Order: sequence, then C-alpha cells, then structure tokens
Amino acid sequence: MNSSVPASLVQKAAGAPKAELHIHIEGSLEPELIFRLAQRNGVKLAYDSIEALRAAYAFTNLQSFLDIYYAGASVLLTEQDFYDMTAAYVERALADNVVHTEIFFDPQTHTERGVPIATVVAGIDRALADAEKRGLSSKLILCFLRHLSEEDALATFDAALPLFEQYRHRLIGVGLDSSERGHPPSKFERVFAKARAKGLKLVAHAGEEGPPSYVYEALDLLKVDRVDHGVRSIEDPALVARLADTRIALTVCPLSNVKLCVFDDMTKHTLKDLLDRGVAVTVNSDDPAYFGGYVNDNYLATIEALKLDDAEVYTIVRNSFEASFVTPEERAALIATLDAYWHGGHGEHGGSVGASGS
Ligand code: ADE
Ligand code: ZN
Repeated sequence: MNSSVPASLVQKAAGAPKAELHIHIEGSLEPELIFRLAQRNGVKLAYDSIEALRAAYAFTNLQSFLDIYYAGASVLLTEQDFYDMTAAYVERALADNVVHTEIFFDPQTHTERGVPIATVVAGIDRALADAEKRGLSSKLILCFLRHLSEEDALATFDAALPLFEQYRHRLIGVGLDSSERGHPPSKFERVFAKARAKGLKLVAHAGEEGPPSYVYEALDLLKVDRVDHGVRSIEDPALVARLADTRIALTVCPLSNVKLCVFDDMTKHTLKDLLDRGVAVTVNSDDPAYFGGYVNDNYLATIEALKLDDAEVYTIVRNSFEASFVTPEERAALIATLDAYWHGGHGEHGGSVGASGS
C-alpha cells in the first residue's frame, strides 16, 4: 500500500455500507462458474481450461473485452443458471458491505440464443429476492446492446413490457451498453422515449471510450437520470460544470477503465478531478470477474492511487446512495446508516479488505 494513505481509511471504506450502481451481472461470471455451467449445459467453449480462459483476459480496448464477455455469457441457458450467477455475485457484494445494488442485464445476448427474457429475469429476481432476506436490496436495469439496431431494441422493449409490470418492484429502468464508438445515444432516442413514457428510470453508458458529445446526447436526447462511466466528460469543462450543477451522477468503474486502457494506469484516472469539480461520482465494479476486482477492490485501488482523504471517500460512498433509484425514505435510512458508521466509530459493518498491506 502507498504509505501516504492510512490503512485505516482503506479498512473504513471496505467496511462502509455502500450501494453499487454499475454492475453487469453477466460480467460477474467467474471463469470457474463459466466452466461449470458449460459442462452442465453441454456448451462447447473456445478455451480448454479455466487457466486458458483467464489468460485471455488481456484487453486492449472495450471491444476486445466484449468479444470474450459475450462468449462467456453463452453458457447461460436456464433459469437456474441465471440464479446461480446472481447468487454468486450476491455473496461477493455482501462480503464488500454492499447494502443496495442496481444490476444491469443484457437480454439480447440471451434472446438471440433462444433464451426468453422471462427466463433471464426470473432467475436473477429469485436470487435477488433471497438476497433481500440477508440485507441486500436491489433493482434491475434492462440494457439495450448499442451495436444492434434500434429496431431490435424496440422489439426487446416490447417483449419485456409484461415483465416491467410483473417485476415492477425490481425491474425499474433501461440502460444502453456494448460497443460505444460509432453507436451514439442518438441512435436510441425512440426506444428511450418509450421507456420514459412508461415512467422507467433511464441510464446510458457514455463517455467511456466515446467523446463528450455522446454524454451530451445521453443527457439531451435520451434524458438519462445517470451516466454510466462518463469519465471522458473531463475533456469538456462546460459539460463538467453542467454535471456538477444538475447533480447527474457518474457511475465510474476505475479498474474497468484501466483494464480497458481508457487510462494508462490508476494514477492517471480522472475520478478525483471530477470530484474536485463537484461532480457526483460513484465507484463501481462494472464486470468484476473480468477486471480484477469487486467494488471494494475498486475503492482500494482508487483511494491508494489518487490519495483520497476521509472526506472524499465519504462523499463517494454517500453519492452511491444519493444517486440510487430508491425512495426518499429508503435513501434517508441508507444515509443514516452510513453516517452512523462513518462518524460513529465504524464498528457496525466491520468489513475487511484482503489486499491492504502496511
Ligand atoms: N457491457 C459490459 N461491460 C461494459 C462496458 N464496460 N462498457 C460497455 N458495455 C459493457
Ligand atoms: Zn458498464
């Protein structure tokens, strides 16, 4: 550990109750589970062993990751598969003192293989219902794959309409993910307008690899409630000021950004610059099985590389609740729990983090 960051702050962040707002559930599939499900379902993988698969996790950009991520998701066929994947994530989230999570899923990745959206949502929801009994609340956000057409997204939205009713307690929004460059938010204006008319929450990946103009499009055309990643906003001071003024949060994923070569290394990450300019940044894991860590690993790496202090880390954790899609009453209760922990001797959640050294 960098000696200028007290180990106690890393421990304190690890133990803090927190929300995770940017996690692709398919990105939580660990290689061991990919192989177990492949065997269970008779799916042939392009890799001979867990080690060979893991060795392929050397990404040069977003697309190089997505190619492997979609191959990994090909083992998911049954409701039980989606349950098992989500239950495994729940264990990791609970270990990191996540008390609320808002999870993305990519239905088109599964429907194109003949798996109905209802199967996907049923398995994920069942695991999340079990998690709720253990103190982890959650929402689910259906993401459209932006490398596919808007017609495909519209058909997916229509197919999911009954599920937005049936799972209205859980399935509360839509998002936009996959290959960003060449697929601007404007391509999905109509489907987002339909989702907005239904009263759904709206988010979109923008400004991960794409330019600041994509963040403007997400705000002005899609009218998103949050921006996923958004780190390239830093290139446009007027955009940064607007994000700060409107308190539109960014769900930042630091380890992801380094793994996908958005930044050369963690010390180059712009999270602290955005925070200093008043942007509501949060810390999240994105695709933790692929990027070297779950949410606490992201806090650890960020705190150390950017030398964040106690007040900055508190603000980031608090932002996770401020930016979440819970009710005002739930938000107040979550923040009260954080405050009792952060300012009251932090015994309550008592988490630990494995990687902290001296
Ligand atoms: N799907 C899963 N992870 C993603 C990311 N980081 N960016 C875009 N789409 C994704
Ligand atoms: Zn993402």
